Amino acid sequence: MTTLRASNLSKTYRRAGAEPIRVLRGASLSVEAGEHVAILGRSGSGKSTLLNLLGGLDRPDPGCGARIEVAGRDLLGAGERGRARLRAEAIGFVFQSFHLLPELTIEENVRLPAMALPGFRRAAADTRARELLLAAGLGDRLGHRPAELSGGERQRVAVARALMNGPALLLADEPTGNLDALTGRQILDLVFDLGGARSDAPPALVMVTHSDATAARCDRTLRLEGGVLA
Ligand SMILES: Nc1ncnc2c1ncn2[C@@H]1O[C@H](COP(=O)(O)OP(=O)(O)OP(=O)(O)O)[C@@H](O)[C@H]1O
Ligand SMILES: [Mg+2]
Repeated sequence: MTTLRASNLSKTYRRAGAEPIRVLRGASLSVEAGEHVAILGRSGSGKSTLLNLLGGLDRPDPGCGARIEVAGRDLLGAGERGRARLRAEAIGFVFQSFHLLPELTIEENVRLPAMALPGFRRAAADTRARELLLAAGLGDRLGHRPAELSGGERQRVAVARALMNGPALLLADEPTGNLDALTGRQILDLVFDLGGARSDAPPALVMVTHSDATAARCDRTLRLEGGVLA
């Protein structure tokens, strides 16, 4: 089964009085269920832009003919609410800079995505959030806030949160970029292992990285250059 089908993705940043910046020029990719794909490319080539489109956090250029299908569902055709729902049900996101909510405990951070699901059940969500944090080695830190954790520990929380709803697609934008090499490898272990162990079907992974060693752990590597993937 194909988890992600994206085609004709174009993205131009426009601002009045400035030259438009054409970042993506018809990029396409497909990712099979459970497949791990690394995206390489120089700084500024549009890797984060691409991931933001795939995750529905931003929209491609109007009229460019772009299509994005996640787990067989149309991301771009869906309205605002449909898109939010598809994101919550099928897509997990891990960012370089963690993006945890500072006022919530780590258990609350991990549980948060479940609250966006229809049929949210508090007790079941609590149990799953605790299981994920336990598997991430943070079972004794549930009540702590992100500021009380190291960078590597925060990223563990972020990975657990991204997997909370058992997404079909996991998007990671340089998840180890702010961490030392050893901590980075541990985060990758977690991304690979936790995704498989904690859901019925391991998610497809699209991961942006600058590291050849990281890319080598994936099934396939694509390079973003000139606004397209090769
Ligand atoms: N909101 C924005 N408005 C205008 N230009 C933007 C915006 N976001 C990104 N850009 C520009 O688009 C290009 C691609 O940016 P993007 O962040 O996608 O690159 P990247 O490949 O992720 O780079 P890095 O490896 O440094 O993270 C860059 O030239 C950047 O300056
Ligand atoms: Mg980036």
